[in-house]
Amino acid sequence: MPQGPGTFVFDAYGTLFDFNAAIARHRGAAGADADRFSEIWRLKQIEYTWTLTLAGRYVEFWTLTQRALDYTFARVPSVPKSLRKDLLDAYIKLDAFPDARHVLRALKARGDRTAILSNGSPAMLASAVEAAGIAADLDAVLSVDTVKMFKPRPEVYALVTQRFSVQPSEVVFVSSNRWDAMGATAFGFRTVWVNRSKSPGEYDDLPPAAAVSDLTALLSLPR
Ligand code: LAC
Repeated sequence: MPQGPGTFVFDAYGTLFDFNAAIARHRGAAGADADRFSEIWRLKQIEYTWTLTLAGRYVEFWTLTQRALDYTFARVPSVPKSLRKDLLDAYIKLDAFPDARHVLRALKARGDRTAILSNGSPAMLASAVEAAGIAADLDAVLSVDTVKMFKPRPEVYALVTQRFSVQPSEVVFVSSNRWDAMGATAFGFRTVWVNRSKSPGEYDDLPPAAAVSDLTALLSLPR
């Protein structure tokens, strides 16, 4: 980990913000398939980012989030479509994970720089950051929208080195998405995989510098 002040860059959805919180707020109305519904919604949302980027196309993440939701309603018909607006309202103001605010604040207090680098559109990220009350704890909120392609394209990770005028090896990149940590490792970042759900390892040829179970572990990483 870096000597002196570091540059800590966080993925947003799944890392700082809990995307399962949207369905959790409406679990009673969603019924027994709520967890499966949330999983398919997320998988489709991310699949669309990959397929469009491979096709050389770009559609912003909020639209893809809605398209993925509509697909999921069709795939899991037990969840009432009348929840569409409620789920989108919840998604635009997701809960932050309980450790997110504390860790960002602690990193800032010791002099590190902090930022978000996300697939999220600028409006989505602004809404989530405000709802979580973490705006003052972030030096930058960077969106793929600037380059109009999604992670794990290297052009996306380069937004960080351009913004902070640093080398990739000076950046600690934190993501709960193993595929995102893979892309960040390939770019040259020091990556930390936050494996909250105890997922099995993958992408063994591009391993993270560290794997942790929650964000508080960042504060005790060797510097
Ligand atoms: C993001 C998605 C990948 O925030 O979680 O970029």
